[in-house]
Amino acid sequence: MTRVLVLDGPNLGRLGAREPEVYGCLTHADLVQACRSTGEELGLDVEVRQTDDEATLVAWLHEAADSGCPVVLNPAAFTHYSYALRDACAQLRAPLVEVHLTNPAARERFRHRSVVASVATGTVAGFGVDSYRLALRAIAALVAPDGG
Ligand code: DQA
Repeated sequence: MTRVLVLDGPNLGRLGAREPEVYGCLTHADLVQACRSTGEELGLDVEVRQTDDEATLVAWLHEAADSGCPVVLNPAAFTHYSYALRDACAQLRAPLVEVHLTNPAARERFRHRSVVASVATGTVAGFGVDSYRLALRAIAALVAPDGG
């Protein structure tokens, strides 16, 4: 069974309480559950982790690079300025899907730029928790024996 790491960056642990008018009422526990059940459906072994700490996120990406593990990454605010995260993503050998709950391109100007996008296999943004479900589907297709 293919293992997939779903990595969430800063403030995503506050979903539910955080700006519900922007991010909705879904909690991070709900998001974890959605990823797990989508993983079961797709035959993927999905592990979801969240941290507010850039160094921890970089270390998890190194772990994924060393084990050849596909990654679904919501870098949250790091998306827009963390070259350390971008350089860690560049070391991945398996597919990397950047995800966002909201559509950053339709929000404030500082959110329009992603420093991660150029080293990602693809990006899914704007569909709430479905962004994660779609990202896992994309990974399942990419790692399938026929390459999707
Ligand atoms: C986000 C969008 C980012 O701009 C923001 O900083 C987040 C969440 C999203 O999932 O929509 O924390 O990544």
